[in-house]
Amino acid sequence: QHVVLLFGGNSSEHDVSKRSAYNYYKALEETGKYDLSVVAIAQNGYFLDAERSMKIMMQADEQPLVDSYMKELADEGLLSPIKALEKLPKIDIFFPVVHGNLGEDGTLQGLFRLLDKPYVGAALRGHAVSFDKVLTKEILTQNHIRNTEYLVTYAGDEQPLTWAEVEGKLGSVVFVKAANQGSSVGISRAENEEEFEAALKDSFQYDRKVLVEAAVNGPRELEVGVIGNDKVLVSEIGAHQVPDQGGDGKGWYDYRSKFVDNSEVAFEIPAKLPDPVTAEIKEMAKKAYRALNLSGEARMDFLIDEDNVPYLGEPNTLPGFTNMSLFKRLWDYSDIDNAKLADMLVQYGFD
Ligand code: DAL
Ligand code: MG
Repeated sequence: QHVVLLFGGNSSEHDVSKRSAYNYYKALEETGKYDLSVVAIAQNGYFLDAERSMKIMMQADEQPLVDSYMKELADEGLLSPIKALEKLPKIDIFFPVVHGNLGEDGTLQGLFRLLDKPYVGAALRGHAVSFDKVLTKEILTQNHIRNTEYLVTYAGDEQPLTWAEVEGKLGSVVFVKAANQGSSVGISRAENEEEFEAALKDSFQYDRKVLVEAAVNGPRELEVGVIGNDKVLVSEIGAHQVPDQGGDGKGWYDYRSKFVDNSEVAFEIPAKLPDPVTAEIKEMAKKAYRALNLSGEARMDFLIDEDNVPYLGEPNTLPGFTNMSLFKRLWDYSDIDNAKLADMLVQYGFD
């Protein structure tokens, strides 16, 4: 069977995607079960032919992560999505590895549906709903899955949300997030009126709906992998340890520490937690996966406070699969190596 991997895209996670795709490609190759093609999506949204796409993906490990956009693609070899896919020898299933916009908001899944082909990962509506931070919290709340207190504000509100209201309801430290954006872009922390106004302004650049969220006290970040369709598997829980919490005045796991400066990030698998807390987190992850209409794969991110109370932070419907990604390591630890995982994901896609 012929698997078509897609990577790149027009989000800030373009280069992360290249690395994730490279690892999935290697993993699928290792199974010896599939014929593989690769399609790169350039920063401007155009697609590349299979040959050039392959060449670019294979350089994934050699290039610096940030600011290495597909410069070489500026003018030639760009195709419309349909043209690029028409040129492929055969398509049995699509395997999108495009993080953020296009891949994680349901856009590519819409294209696959139009082409009447199966695809790996969640269905269109699972991605689309989970990509919206406000909709996600509404669904979690409705399903009694613990998440932090929040307020929503819209561009052009007749009565804009004030800092006094925010502080009154959510406390003196909040996170301000564009409703639709991935990988910590359009997110700021605010603890006074001035910071709040600046944060709103920044978030409104990305979306006209903005989430204002209470902070968790003394948080640790935990991640859990979830895969499957009707039968759902939950991985061990992994923890990030960012030693310098707040030392740079940011105090959260930002884009830089995620994908660039790995030296400061340590992992702990399985996370050291009391057994009932581990069980609760796994149960929350599974429940959220179902409630959000997810299938195939996802990673659920949690925050746990200083009293070990877990809050579901966010679903990631196309989790990173770079060498630094916890999702990749979590399954390894759960005795599902990369080849087995990639194979399972393809089979879930056909299911
Ligand atoms: N958005 C990145 C790829 C992740 O969550 O892993
Ligand atoms: Mg995330």
